[in-house]
Amino acid sequence: MKTKIIGTGSFVPDRVVTNQDLAGIVDTSDEWIRTRTGIGQRRILDGPGTSAMAAEAARRAMDNAGVGPEDIDIILVGTTTADHCFPSAACEVQGSLGAVRAVGYDISGACSGFIFALSTADALIRAQGYRVGLVIGADNLSKIVDWSDRSTCVLFGDGAGAAVVKGFEGQEEGGIIAADLGSDGRKAAVLQCQSRTMGNFLTGTKPEVGYITMEGQEVFKFAVKKVPECIQKVLEDTGTGIEEIKYFVLHQANYRICESIAKRLKVSMDRIPMNIEHYGNTSAATIPVLLDELNRGGKLEPGDKIILSGFGAGLTWGASLVQW
Ligand code: UT7
Repeated sequence: MKTKIIGTGSFVPDRVVTNQDLAGIVDTSDEWIRTRTGIGQRRILDGPGTSAMAAEAARRAMDNAGVGPEDIDIILVGTTTADHCFPSAACEVQGSLGAVRAVGYDISGACSGFIFALSTADALIRAQGYRVGLVIGADNLSKIVDWSDRSTCVLFGDGAGAAVVKGFEGQEEGGIIAADLGSDGRKAAVLQCQSRTMGNFLTGTKPEVGYITMEGQEVFKFAVKKVPECIQKVLEDTGTGIEEIKYFVLHQANYRICESIAKRLKVSMDRIPMNIEHYGNTSAATIPVLLDELNRGGKLEPGDKIILSGFGAGLTWGASLVQW
């Protein structure tokens, strides 16, 4: 059994917030943000939340794949910003789509969430005989950003991306060939959003509102080391030459991080598609949104090999080798 991506979709909110807009609320500039990150603007959600974005991306992916809600067996949402503690975003997506046969749950891998969810869907399809899955990366980070902290608020945006995956028997070429996933909880404090508790008079717990905090340079150093390592591992494990890879679809956190990864892998930037300028870092959504742009732009031919790779809070990382 092999798992193939048979359709993609994405959704970003309409509201554009430019670097100039942010320069009006914190001490920053368009020049600083562009040169340090490659970000020009981001989309910010001011309507319904993560589940609504995820459901819209899923609808577009299902249209692209030619499958209906009754075909879906699994719904996995990589997110750290579900609208509620429970139910999960995946269950809300299920309800919104009417995918009544599916089982849905969320996967908390921060910016690696889509890669983790894709691998989990592949494992479920191979091991448990599920046939069609919806794998979604969706985040609404603007609701947990500290809008007075210039070192983080300029980086993030909101969005969702989705892929429909399907299990195939037999010799058919392609699909998810291999993946390498990792996490290092010893580095948890480097990038985190602490809990938002309501307080409890019985225990004396005080209400708290946590926002994203980050040691930017630590994350930068980790990303430019770990991402090439896990990509190399997937290539070595499968005997795949780096020249066979058409595109490296990387988490969009910082243009300079992607440039450093390209340098370490000794590949040119024309094999590393970028869209960070338009959306900023949308966490679990960056990879599926970019994948959808490539797919809809006609950039992927059957047989093409691509790498999807991300990293994020946890710290977490992962790479997946996919043949289109
Ligand atoms: O999905 C994973 C999420 N996170 C990441 O991937 C983040 C990885 N890290 C990065 O992308 C970079 O470290 C940042 C973009 C966050 C920061 O860039 P940097 O080149 O590492 O800058 P820095 O933190 O060393 O700060 C340089 C200066 C500091 O001022 P001083 O101390 O040199 O006077 C900062 O206070 O830039 C200042 N600064 C800013 N200035 C204008 C920090 N943020 C801003 C800002 N506008 N928005």
